[in-house]
This record gives sequence, C-alpha cells and structure tokens, in this order.
Amino acid sequence: MKVSYVCQECGFTAPKWLGKCPDCSAWNTMVEEVTQARAGFDRSRSATVNKPLALTHDSGRTDARIFTGIGELDRVLGGGIVPGSVVLVGGDPGIGKSTLMLQTCHRAEKNGAPVLYVSGEESFDQTRMRARRLGTMTDELMILTETQVDAIRDEIERGQYVLVVIDSIQSLYTPRLPSTPGSVAQVRECANELISTVKALNVAAFFVGHVTKQGAIAGPRVLEHMVDTVLYFEGEGHKDLRILRAVKNRFGSTNEIGVFEMTDHGLEEIRNASRALLDERPRGTSGSVVASVMEGTRSLLVELQALVSKSALAVPRRTVTGVNVNRVNLILAILEKRAGLNLSDKDVFINVAGGIRVNEPAADLAIAVAVASSFFDVPVDPDLTVFGEIGLAGEVRSVSHAGKRVAEAGKLGFKRCALPRSGTPKEVSNGIKTLPVSRLRDALEVALER
Ligand code: TYD
Ligand code: MG
Repeated sequence: MKVSYVCQECGFTAPKWLGKCPDCSAWNTMVEEVTQARAGFDRSRSATVNKPLALTHDSGRTDARIFTGIGELDRVLGGGIVPGSVVLVGGDPGIGKSTLMLQTCHRAEKNGAPVLYVSGEESFDQTRMRARRLGTMTDELMILTETQVDAIRDEIERGQYVLVVIDSIQSLYTPRLPSTPGSVAQVRECANELISTVKALNVAAFFVGHVTKQGAIAGPRVLEHMVDTVLYFEGEGHKDLRILRAVKNRFGSTNEIGVFEMTDHGLEEIRNASRALLDERPRGTSGSVVASVMEGTRSLLVELQALVSKSALAVPRRTVTGVNVNRVNLILAILEKRAGLNLSDKDVFINVAGGIRVNEPAADLAIAVAVASSFFDVPVDPDLTVFGEIGLAGEVRSVSHAGKRVAEAGKLGFKRCALPRSGTPKEVSNGIKTLPVSRLRDALEVALER
C-alpha cells in the first residue's frame, strides 16, 4: 500500500507529512491518503485504443446543445449544455445549488431530455419534498439516492440519459480506495470515473461541489482542471440575490453572469438585473454613484459606494469589497495627485452594492467619483451614471461597448451619463444625455456639479 500526504485545500501531494503546504501555504491541511488502488482491480475494463482522426472527420455525434430553458443558466454556459460536457457547480452550503440543479433537471426533462438526478446528500423523500415545493414534480425525472460510484456508473450506462446531475461529488466514494468519502483521493477518483463514463456515452453531467472558506472548490484543485466548465453560484447569505458565474468554460466566455433571486418557490431568473441591483439605492446621500459595467455580453448598472472618514490610525485603512484593492489604491493616488484630494489621513471604505464583483477598469471613474463625493460630502445627482478608465496622468480613457452602457442607463431612466470623450456614441436613445469628459477633474466637476 502506498501512502502519501495530500493537502485538503489544493490537492498538493507530498511523500511525507508537512505542517505547511508548499503550494497553497495553508497550515495543517496535509492528510494521509492511501493512493494506490487495491490489488486485483482491473483498470483495463474501459480501456480502448484511440486512433488519430482527421479534423474534418464526422463522428456522427450530435453537437446540438441542450437548452435547459433557464435562460440565465444557458447564457452562462455559452448557449446551452454541450452533450458530453462536464460542468462543476460550486458554491457555499445553502446557497441554492441543489435547488438550481433540480429546477434545471425539471426544465431539461420538459424539453424532452431524459435526466438522472443522483442525490448523495439528501434522501429520496427530502428531494421529493423539495421538488414539490418547487413545483417541479415530473413523473419522468429519475432520482437515484446512491453514493457508491460504481452503482452510479452502472445506472448511467444502463439508462438512456442525456443529462446526469451528481449532487454532490464530495459525497461519493469508490470502494477501491480505503480513504473516507470527501477526501481528496476519493473525490478525484470518483470524478475521474464518472467523467470517463459520461464522455464515452456523450452524456452531459453537472457535478455539484462544495466550496471551502477560501473560496476554492473543496477537494483537489485538479477537479477544476478535469471538467470542461466551472460555475460558481454565489451571493450574500442574508440577501436573496444569487449570481452564477463561469470561471472556466471550454465552450463559451467566462465573463457571463446569470442573476437569480431565491424565492419561496425556488430560484427565479432576474432578467433586469440592473433594476434589482439599484433597488435600495439611497438618494441624496454622498458617496454613492451608479456605474455602467459590462458582464460578458450584458451591460449592468451597479451602485458603487465609498465612505471617506478621518483616520485614527498611523496607516489609514483601505477596506474594499467588490473591486480590486490595488486598483482602488491606484485611483486614490491619482485622486491625490491629479485632483488635489488629501486622503493620506483618511480611512477609505469601498463597496459594490448587492454583492456584485466588478473586475473591469471601466469602474475606475465611478470609484473616483464615489470617493470624491464622500470626501466633499456632496451627493452625486441620482440621475447620473458614469463609466471610464482612469490613466495615471488623470486622463479618462475609453472603454469597450460605450453604446451598450449608455443604452442600459437610458433604459432604466437615467438622464445623464459621464463617459470618456473618445468613443462617445454619436446617437443615443431614451433621451439620455452624454457628458463626454477627458480628464478626471472634469468628471468630478460634472458629477459633483462643483
Ligand atoms: P439548497 O439548494 O439546498 O442549497 P445547497 O444545495 O447549495 O446547499 O438551498 C437551500 C436554501 O435555499 C435554504 O436555506 C432554503 C432556501 N430555499 C428557498 O428559499 N426557497 C426554496 O424554494 C428552496 C427549495 C430553498
Ligand atoms: Mg445541496
């Protein structure tokens, strides 16, 4: 028997025990794993010999995507599920992964795709109760309560399924390894087994996976490499807004997000995400401004909030959620140098409302405006949106999709939009007025009407 030590956080394997994982630097995460399969196990069972094929070769397999009918999910996947693809759905416990999967199964089933839902965590009755609550009781949907991977594989091979959901991958085990279910070696082996099964049959699969505190999918990080698509389902626990985000996608873009709301009868798609995100926006208060950002192909209006207050610390605090802290530090430095704001003795807090994360530089201008608004305690006109990248010289630089961003703001009733001068769209609809700016100072003047 071969013993090695595997990090529970990242899957790093070492021949001896280590206190600190050399890969992810986590402490006390190495556990003993017996990695060698038991003697007598015949691995040649599924071994087939592949021959090289010309790229133009027609395998005869259909590559038509399966539409789940849940528009937000289909878009995040890049336009439906690719047959034979494996999607990992990660998220904190209780965020709604099982709910999303059950609803997906129901819709796929209704669209004529036979589905198998494997529940390794909840009993048949629990799943049925949930389905009843969601109104997703279809006679055809097959539920399998099983955690032994061979039994699951046999059922997938026996049934004529188009889609299989495994909820969750951490609850499965293979009797060929002595370690406990959920351990790195088990998760890796079970995933491996199921991936080769569904790929061979051209069946699409969703694996539900738990997420650790640090935000990585628990179990080996290799799991993320083994699958075709990794989706994260996230949201602030106390709020009902849920965001589905692709972090890896072999069949589509990773910029897309899907927005849902958790209601009494399951998850509902939110087509108008901007309106939901701006729902609780304060009016007439300083430090808040609405930014037009892009998430994949969709434009989104998000509220950026800043609070600038006098610091009692030698090194003032910079607390940032929803945007990149380095970007914020850069913008604060530019505000100091180019707009004359003295922030060196101020604590600065930045937040993006609604638990959204914004990763694009087009939010720069909104961050700067929110900080300046709080600094001077001057509210920003609630009918104004802003977007634009800020350069080190204090210039406002153009960003992509200016037209789309302005259009979304106009659609939601905003009256004015401050945006980079270069790239300003010539024509805008919905009566919104564009206010082109080329320097940060001008933008602050426009936004704060100083
Ligand atoms: P669940 O899908 O079980 O989460 P996960 O599989 O990610 O652990 O979701 C559980 C939460 O969702 C639970 O707190 C109750 C809530 N919920 C609703 O609000 N409405 C519903 O219709 C359902 C089924 C769950
Ligand atoms: Mg669950």
